Amino acid sequence: MDIQDVLNCVFSAWYPKFKDITIKSYILPLPKEFLDYLQADGVVLPEQSVAASGKHDEDDIEGEELDVDWDSADSSETKMPSFPEFESLMKKIIKNLGGSVFPKLNWSAPRDATWISFDKTLRCTCPSDVYLLLKSSEFITHDLTQPFLHCKDCANGSNVTVQYELILRKWQNLASGMEFRCFVRNGNLTAICQRNHTEYYEFITKMKEEIVSDIKAFFYHMVAGKFPSKNYVFDVYRRDKGKLLLIDFNPFGAVTDGLLFTWDELEGLRGDGQEDQQRNDQSEGSTSVTSSVETSNTQEPVFRFVEHPEGVQPHPYSSFGIPEDIKDLTSGEDPYKMMDLLNLKIQQMGRQDSCDEEGD
Ligand SMILES: Nc1ncnc2c1ncn2[C@@H]1O[C@H](COP(=O)(O)OP(=O)(O)OP(=O)(O)O)[C@@H](O)[C@H]1O
Ligand SMILES: [Mg+2]
Repeated sequence: MDIQDVLNCVFSAWYPKFKDITIKSYILPLPKEFLDYLQADGVVLPEQSVAASGKHDEDDIEGEELDVDWDSADSSETKMPSFPEFESLMKKIIKNLGGSVFPKLNWSAPRDATWISFDKTLRCTCPSDVYLLLKSSEFITHDLTQPFLHCKDCANGSNVTVQYELILRKWQNLASGMEFRCFVRNGNLTAICQRNHTEYYEFITKMKEEIVSDIKAFFYHMVAGKFPSKNYVFDVYRRDKGKLLLIDFNPFGAVTDGLLFTWDELEGLRGDGQEDQQRNDQSEGSTSVTSSVETSNTQEPVFRFVEHPEGVQPHPYSSFGIPEDIKDLTSGEDPYKMMDLLNLKIQQMGRQDSCDEEGD
């Protein structure tokens, strides 16, 4: 995986080519003030979004956090970030997309921050929902600070200027068992895995041949040859027989979750007819809980899914249910950060009704 492979997975790089087979979305270049806001410490919502300020009375906070406006002691000087034009554009787009959107930046969605939202999903109905999720997510911080981590040529990453964008996608009620992650190596579909790999879905066992055949047809007709990297990962949602929806592209490498595959295994599936015969020995004991549809034809993708209810695993993001801020609080290191966060949550609860009205 090199920097170019990661750049090929930027949403705005692939969306124009694939917009007919994916979810309707808008791409908004981030104004500098908004980018600064995302990169700043603290979780204050912008001026337009909240009626009441979340300011603290104390001014005795030391260190870098003093640069953040929320800790000002003088209410007349309390500055909240403000980007009215960007916000009104977001409102228009949310309305245009039916009132509910799924937000992400160039590569990542704030999936680790759902604990902070009302319905524990990424569904946003107004700009402040989007701000709160983006500001609370370490995955978003990764996009902003180290997008080229693990690239072979990452030493050159500092020469690449990334134009950051907010992506607003029309909200879809997706059933988790129907989404699959597909791994492409040397231009060939080598592996498929159920996307939500911590659950058991009885129907997958029953329909495994159909699922593989639909995904293969989708790949070879709609995706292969159009995506510029030789190695990549894409996620697909199988709504019904023969009805597939492209969800996202991801780099082929450790930054992408291999789910029920290890990256050693995935790299062993060469996709050029010379597969590494050792791959089945490397599945780290997962064979009792997962299954693969494999044939002697080396072009056939390996399909892996949870085959028995006992194969259910802990949710990989359960650790994100305890936010860093709470860890800071329990260690006594940063109580103000936590107070800020709780204030924010209270504000959000208070304005939920007005948020719904904004969406109308
Ligand atoms: N428009 C949408 N509405 C509802 N859910 C969505 C939408 N788009 C994506 N999702 C769900 O959210 C998940 C994550 O989306 P996406 O792949 O865009 O984020 P990501 O940060 O790139 O995740 P990953 O790192 O796993 O690829 C998808 O697998 C899908 O289940
Ligand atoms: Mg993705």
